[in-house]
Amino acid sequence: MIQLNVNGHNVEVDVPGDMPLLWVLRDTLGMTGTKFGCGIAQCGACTVHIDGRAMRSCVLPISAVSNRNVTTIEKIGETDAGHRVQTAWLKEEVVQCGYCQSGQIMSAAALLAHVPNPTDPEIDAAMAGNICRCGTYERIRRAIKEAASA
Ligand code: FES
Ligand code: FES
Repeated sequence: MIQLNVNGHNVEVDVPGDMPLLWVLRDTLGMTGTKFGCGIAQCGACTVHIDGRAMRSCVLPISAVSNRNVTTIEKIGETDAGHRVQTAWLKEEVVQCGYCQSGQIMSAAALLAHVPNPTDPEIDAAMAGNICRCGTYERIRRAIKEAASA
């Protein structure tokens, strides 16, 4: 059994220690907001927060997050930065197909939680690992600035 905290709830999962966190979230806990894209830490679709830091859950063995705090897209709106990001996302109508967007929002929320007024290079650096095949990058940058000033 592996214990962890997901979105403020202590959970215990009976899975192999090398199972990626993404699999546990989606298949064991039924939380499908976090997406599978590449499975090799190259697209950012699976981004979650571990103790407040954005990380790729597709390559994170569940044993590595034992007794740590996991936050997912399902609850990020209850944090200050996450709420501002989601509000700005709607205002700027960022989303196109939507597949990459939970990962984009998680990376943006982690950025603003640690850097309240990021510069363009800081935004680019924080978001560089999040791929959007619909090309919503300009709207993402506008929304991050909007959220920063909110
Ligand atoms: S699915 Fe994890 S980075 Fe692409
Ligand atoms: S909105 Fe379609 S992949 Fe980003």
